[in-house]
Amino acid sequence: MTRIFQNLLVTGGAGFIGGNFIHYLFREAGFAGRVVNFDALTYAGNGESLSDIARDFPDRYVFVHGDIRDAETVRATLAKYGIDAICHFAAESHVDRSILAPDDFVSTNIVGTHVLLSAARGVKDFKLFHHVSTDEVFGSLPPDGFFREDTPYAPNSPYSASKAASDHLVRAANRTFGLPVTMTNCSNNYGPYQFPEKLIPLIILNALEGKPLPVYGDGLNIRDWLFVTDHCRAIWQVMREGRDGETYNVGGRNELTNLEVVRKICALVDALAPALPDGRKREELITFVKDRPGHDRRYAIDCGKIARELGWTPATAWDGGFEATVKWYLGNPAWVEHVRSGAYRDWLRRQYFGRPQA
Ligand code: NAD
Ligand code: TYD
Repeated sequence: MTRIFQNLLVTGGAGFIGGNFIHYLFREAGFAGRVVNFDALTYAGNGESLSDIARDFPDRYVFVHGDIRDAETVRATLAKYGIDAICHFAAESHVDRSILAPDDFVSTNIVGTHVLLSAARGVKDFKLFHHVSTDEVFGSLPPDGFFREDTPYAPNSPYSASKAASDHLVRAANRTFGLPVTMTNCSNNYGPYQFPEKLIPLIILNALEGKPLPVYGDGLNIRDWLFVTDHCRAIWQVMREGRDGETYNVGGRNELTNLEVVRKICALVDALAPALPDGRKREELITFVKDRPGHDRRYAIDCGKIARELGWTPATAWDGGFEATVKWYLGNPAWVEHVRSGAYRDWLRRQYFGRPQA
């Protein structure tokens, strides 16, 4: 039986994957209901990414500036908009930040998820809580093998530990209180609208500007790169057709070392952007830096379950996906400038509150 939703709360919709998901719902999935984007607009949130959706779907897209740790605002929002399902993206998402300052990871990722689950339990005829999580909860793989849904949890960073805790709370809400839930644990995403602190957008922009390209340790750590639109399609399919209480792993079947990723991006930027003034190839900008503490060596996903049960497989190979991503960053300098400068906060305040930053 396919689930149909009328009023969907998307938490963290101003971030990278949440923003792509809202685009996907309106532009590709043919979603006919209303989306309420609930986002605290941290440094990683950028409502400008959704200005086209706000313009084209004024009756079916609503932005609520709120914090998932604020139980009263969460409850009031669920009631005001008749929310019947939640897709939960909001999180502190960057591993390096979690090493420097873990507090917000614990409060947003764990307490915030608990607040949302408690509020959802209070909604009559609630249809689904979908939790978006990460393969990092499973820890680090040796050179062979894959993460499966039954792989034991072994998180190594404050970020992955906080996501693991949130996964357990979601599972417990299903088993103990009967809340309808589904979960996805996915590999590293890339694509448009990703904040340029993560590897791929950081390298694209530094390469464009002739800055050093920092590679941690020996650069041989492996990630399984998933194009964000493939991920959005997987989430929507699980939300509509996934079995209650189940977890599905989502991966790109694109294992690459960090050094391979950086070299491929360098070649693309050399081909698509003007040459550097000093004539150097972008690869010459690669700079090996001190390794990240607790750096997981390899992630790789077995996405057989979602393929067997729901027929989902990743559609985007890394070469096409990387080229599209590099072109997007080269073609959207205003977005890049805004997220880097903080000017987007003024823009947002004008958009949503009718006044510039005080
Ligand atoms: P992101 O950092 O780009 O966006 C996070 C969004 O959440 C931002 O818009 C931010 O303003 C919002 N937010 C943060 N704290 C909040 C709070 N307390 N209340 C309300 N909103 C808040 O993150 P992303 O890369 O889009 O990741 C989305 C989800 O997917 C996260 O749960 C993350 O753990 C998961 N995930 C991401 C990846 C990846 O490669 N990016 C991989 C696996 C899983
Ligand atoms: P990142 O994009 O931070 O994602 P995650 O840590 O969640 O996998 O990093 C991807 C990989 O790239 C990871 O192995 C760390 C590495 N990395 C670098 O080598 N240099 C960088 O500047 C960054 C941000 C990451």
